[in-house]
Amino acid sequence: MKPILIAHRGASAMEPENTLASFKKALAFPFTKMIELDVYAIPSGELMVIHDDKVDRTTNGHGYVMESSFEFLRSLDAGGGRGQGKSKSSRRREKIPTLNEVLDLINRRVKVNIELKGENTAEPVKKILQEYLAKGWKHDDYLVSSFNHEELRKFKRLLPEIPVGVLFVGIPLGYAKYAQGIKAYSIHLSVEFANQEMVDDAHRRGIKVFCWTLEEADEIERMCKLGVDGIFVNDLKFAYGVLRKLC
Ligand code: G3P
Ligand code: CA
Repeated sequence: MKPILIAHRGASAMEPENTLASFKKALAFPFTKMIELDVYAIPSGELMVIHDDKVDRTTNGHGYVMESSFEFLRSLDAGGGRGQGKSKSSRRREKIPTLNEVLDLINRRVKVNIELKGENTAEPVKKILQEYLAKGWKHDDYLVSSFNHEELRKFKRLLPEIPVGVLFVGIPLGYAKYAQGIKAYSIHLSVEFANQEMVDDAHRRGIKVFCWTLEEADEIERMCKLGVDGIFVNDLKFAYGVLRKLC
């Protein structure tokens, strides 16, 4: 089975990461199965879609996301921040989106992987996802993941029906044992550490394996051979082209 394509921070090779432009581009690509994004719950309560703990790399501003007001964050231009790659085709002004804006845009066309980045995100994310469930979204339209396993466990207790994915850097003790313990849907492994034992162990436990973040053809080939279920990629077209030749 071909691994599914997960648009990492949207179609972030083509548009500024974690912006509506990037998510629109990912939706326009016919083989995108899931869109990944990163979220912080700022102290005033809004859920902001941005990867770093500071705004410096991806916007024209400075400072920590969690120390910034909603008004300040929304005043920034996220459409070509200082650290964003030179391959970005667009230099339009983009706002840091809220999670609501992204969910409204996606509108159940593909699954959405919400990575809980900041602290205390479990409760506010649960609240928003419940609002969208009431509007007709289904539990498996979502996949909530985190490197912060305490926050992820908290989320799973709050809304057990939503699938969760456990993010790992490196090789976890007991492989996927911990993920099985919290009834995770998937484990998300970094490409440099993923190996056959980990993949087989997860599959034996009935857990999917997704790998991040694949840029090169040889990485995609290796993950295909390992039999992973999904790959996080920045360049959807390139990854699809490689996959098509492989499997
Ligand atoms: O969720 C996969 C991947 O996004 C995790 O790493 O640093 O890109 O959020 P990062
Ligand atoms: Ca992420």
